[in-house]
Amino acid sequence: MIKNRFFNRNIVSIRDFDIDDFTYLFDITDKIQTLKSRERGEIAKGLILGYIFYEYSTRTRLSFESAMSSIGGRSLGISDVDSSSIMKGESYADTIKTISLYSDVILIRHPSDGSSRYACEISEKPVINGGSGSEEHPTQAMLDIYTIFKEKKRIDGLSIGIIGDLKYGRTVYSLIYALSNYKVEIHLVSPSILKVRSESIYDISNKVKMYHHIELSDDLLEKLDVIYVTRIQRERFPDLQEYKKIQGLYTIDENILKKSKPDVSILHPLPRVDEISPSIDNTVNALYFKQAAYGKELRAALLSALLHEEPF
Ligand code: NCD
Repeated sequence: MIKNRFFNRNIVSIRDFDIDDFTYLFDITDKIQTLKSRERGEIAKGLILGYIFYEYSTRTRLSFESAMSSIGGRSLGISDVDSSSIMKGESYADTIKTISLYSDVILIRHPSDGSSRYACEISEKPVINGGSGSEEHPTQAMLDIYTIFKEKKRIDGLSIGIIGDLKYGRTVYSLIYALSNYKVEIHLVSPSILKVRSESIYDISNKVKMYHHIELSDDLLEKLDVIYVTRIQRERFPDLQEYKKIQGLYTIDENILKKSKPDVSILHPLPRVDEISPSIDNTVNALYFKQAAYGKELRAALLSALLHEEPF
């Protein structure tokens, strides 16, 4: 067994991980799916995932819970802060400290950038960032790349389009940082007010080829192997009028598929609003629900590796 690269680590930023870490994680994600459920159910017996979500979640929370349960562990946490002592005025630091006393690993989603990094200073146990403001969502990027790898059998050499809200979408930043480890071409497509924050990608701008576009043109569509679609992050918009102007700007539908490579893969971290027409859900190109399903497997592997020096 090769050395576990994740044991006891905090998963705060995807920037803390390199290509060997990804290869290791993808390998154990493949392996965990081949275990018999009895064997798999022994991995985290007696261990607890604690979580707190200061923002809404469906997939991140449920896939982590489902993953933990599939390896025999349990989850406890707060998904609605209105029902917690935070409403009595308890501080973020005391809340994190308390959750970490009752669990073996903790998962946090919070609207502030830096919230997970700060939690690491307080928590007694490893911290997983389940989304920090518009900064990062590292486990989402891990499962995004895993999905691309499973589908395309490679990452190097691909042309990847990332479309939508590139300014506020935290999954976008984690994905770009992760992809910068590979030899890919990244095409960033957004209206100018939602362009990627240049200061946030400054340090990788020489490491990976990135091109900026306002339009999802026919020429570009002919080139792309993967189209990663994102939701306009309405909740982070200072002005709702601005939001309304750009809503529904790049809807992916049959017409877009017709102009794309026949084997183009459509990904989306979900939830979608109107960026992808449900009419393409049953095409071979639509990978977003498969991606969500891989989220559970990858997170089960990740939890196993965080919790045990020899994951399984
Ligand atoms: C994303 C998030 O919370 O950043 N959701 C997710 O975890 N899959 C994307 C989004 O909310 O648009």
